[in-house]
Amino acid sequence: MNCYTPRPEGIENVLQLRCEPLETVRIGFVGLGVRAKRAIERMLHIEGTEIVAICDLVEANIQEVQEIIVSHNKQLATEFCGNDGWQAVCAHPQVDLVYICTDWLSHANIAICAMNNGKHAALEVPAAMTVADCWQLVDTAERTRRHCIMLENCCYDEFELTLLQMVQQGVLGEIIHAEGSYLHDLRERIASNDDGGRRWANWQVEFMRNHNGNPYPTHGLGPIALAMNIHRGDRMKSIVSVSSKRVVAEDNEQGLVGNMNSSIIRTEKGHTILVQHCISLPHPYSRSFLLSGTKGFAQKYPISQMSFDPEGERAIIGEELQNIICNYKHPFVEQYKEYGEQLCGRRWIDYAMDSRLIHCLRNGLPLDMDVYDAVEWSCLVELTEQSVAKGCTIDVPDFTRGDWNLLDSTNFA
Ligand SMILES: NC(=O)c1ccc[n+]([C@@H]2O[C@H](COP(=O)([O-])OP(=O)(O)OC[C@H]3O[C@@H](n4cnc5c(N)ncnc54)[C@H](O)[C@@H]3O)[C@@H](O)[C@H]2O)c1
Repeated sequence: MNCYTPRPEGIENVLQLRCEPLETVRIGFVGLGVRAKRAIERMLHIEGTEIVAICDLVEANIQEVQEIIVSHNKQLATEFCGNDGWQAVCAHPQVDLVYICTDWLSHANIAICAMNNGKHAALEVPAAMTVADCWQLVDTAERTRRHCIMLENCCYDEFELTLLQMVQQGVLGEIIHAEGSYLHDLRERIASNDDGGRRWANWQVEFMRNHNGNPYPTHGLGPIALAMNIHRGDRMKSIVSVSSKRVVAEDNEQGLVGNMNSSIIRTEKGHTILVQHCISLPHPYSRSFLLSGTKGFAQKYPISQMSFDPEGERAIIGEELQNIICNYKHPFVEQYKEYGEQLCGRRWIDYAMDSRLIHCLRNGLPLDMDVYDAVEWSCLVELTEQSVAKGCTIDVPDFTRGDWNLLDSTNFA
């Protein structure tokens, strides 16, 4: 059974989409909170960019960003404040790329408006919170032939990039099983009121109070989906999801539902992926990042380790592991890590992600991640909730409409 409606006549997929090269990428930022301010700082260090328009609901955020821009001796951006500002940024004649850093529920709408205005769209994670919005992103990108990229920075971390190279070179054999998660003890942040009144962050807590599934699947799933060639020879076919009960104090987490959400995906080729989410238990930070192949194994958390045939049981750690990592150094790490670390420490992965985005746009290249990646990883938000509620396995839509087997590897090369 096909889990999609056919593409309208004359519309083609946007796999490997190439658009006109842009000498300077003129950016419009929508949403100027914590994440956007850091992105703006980074963009001001990346050659071939200009920040031409900004908007937020809060005037103080706009002024703070203008000060950042001026401190870099750049021209003030055109500013829009209020509920309709994002539409003005999307329609702004000088904007090439709309960079969206608002709360989860508004991402998709803004990206759709940007593409309908002929702009490329870069969205923070998750790209969309419903399957219907995922389809709208795909349909709009295909109709307008504009890029739509989700800013999944975890795909640019060193261990993940190293493993991607190793998998592409066949070192781990066929990847049979993978795990990715977002396990982050955020109880203190959720409860604290000292975040400029922002209360980490009201909209996140609000969403999690009303939805029992995995609201934030993309950090865990993104890097392993790339390693498993999702929509590049395989596809996620079905998912079953379970949420635990909730046991910690009500007043501390403002009524979040379920501590731990665990989901298992089965792919068309019979591989499995475990995705987990938990932010309300004492747990060391982990994105898991586990790949189990026919010739080898790798895991990033709690400690990085690998093992290979024929000594499958021997864990390779420490210096021996570092030597392997050095042997498979990814070009993006070579290119962006050193300067990125000087600029933003452990957040150099964001610098690498933004630099790649700008490089591809300036050179008319396909982006590292496409709209299908964005929606395949984001659709878990609704699918996990549906599966938890119904207690059954759910089909995962084929957002490529049957084209998942046309490519055979990612652009991360
Ligand atoms: N990739 C990562 O590692 C990472 C880390 C943190 C946050 N994020 C993502 O970044 C996004 C933003 O997170 P944040 O922590 O900066 O949140 P935040 O609450 O600090 O910022 C959101 C901003 O968007 C503004 N906004 C909301 N709706 C708007 C609208 N319609 N028009 C204009 N402005 C609007 C708000 O006023 C606020 O200033 C979220 O999607 C989050 O998931 C990603």
